[in-house]
Amino acid sequence: MQQIQSTPVQIFDLAVRLFHWFQVVLLAGLWYSAEQEWYGLHQLLAYTLASLLGARLIWGLVGSETARFRHFVPSLNQLRHYLANKTPVAGHNPLSALMIVALMLLVALQFTSGLMTTDEVMTEGPLYSLVPDWLSGLAGSWHELGFNLLLGLVAIHVLAALWHQLRGDKVIGAMWHGRKALPEQTVAPRLLGSLKYLLLVLILFCGLMGWQGSAVWPQFLADLQSIQAL
Ligand code: HEM
Ligand code: HEM
Repeated sequence: MQQIQSTPVQIFDLAVRLFHWFQVVLLAGLWYSAEQEWYGLHQLLAYTLASLLGARLIWGLVGSETARFRHFVPSLNQLRHYLANKTPVAGHNPLSALMIVALMLLVALQFTSGLMTTDEVMTEGPLYSLVPDWLSGLAGSWHELGFNLLLGLVAIHVLAALWHQLRGDKVIGAMWHGRKALPEQTVAPRLLGSLKYLLLVLILFCGLMGWQGSAVWPQFLADLQSIQAL
């Protein structure tokens, strides 16, 4: 790996970083709430994560340069070139970009399958009774299996990030504060203010709550009572 001697460049906007770390916390909460069978809380966290992800997908089309899919999803040639040189990149590196796409896809599938899942007691996803039995059955199995697959990929993703970090390509620092040391001649990417991303999240969340809020809130309040009674 190339030795870097330069001042740090701001490569990630706040939107990308907020999305990333809130996603980590929300996924942990989704797992724990399912373990505890707090499905009101589970759904509320899921709709929050879906809003963050939905807004991130839109940000991937219209947001800051390094947030755009066009900027970081590699062609075969870019991937080959990166694998041959492995130089630090002003954004997501082409190999981790493939993992990033897979992780986003799995989270989206996890959410969609949740909408068609039931616990066979009190909670039904809003699409459960609208789709054929074979599809809700498949979604239910996927909801459990897909999460395990997601955990497996997350383990590889974190190991890869640690490997880069320890070899001097400080990707974890970059995901936290947005800056990374890059070769002198690197042009700083064009970053946008992240308020628009947050607005998108809010609009999506209000839309989802407008659709499902009346089903989710009573269950969530019941969960809060069980949590307080602990
Ligand atoms: C539930 C766990 C996690 C998931 C689902 C996840 C998913 C993702 C996603 C989707 C991105 C792209 C962000 C964007 O462009 O908006 C990303 C980037 C990144 N994540 Fe994670 N992540 C997880 C946990 C972690 C943890 C624990 C670490 C560090 C210890 C980490 C380190 C990174 C780094 C360094 C990048 C940037 C990679 C690069 O620039 O090439 N991630 N992650
Ligand atoms: C990205 C979002 C989501 C994640 C990460 C997630 C994660 C999980 C996990 C780990 C389980 C436990 C699986 C098991 O071991 O049986 C579970 C169960 C469940 N989830 Fe989700 N979930 C998400 C979204 C949703 C949504 C949107 C709904 C409904 C609106 C939902 C409804 C359920 C139900 C009803 C169960 C119980 C299934 C059973 O008893 O077999 N989930 N979820």
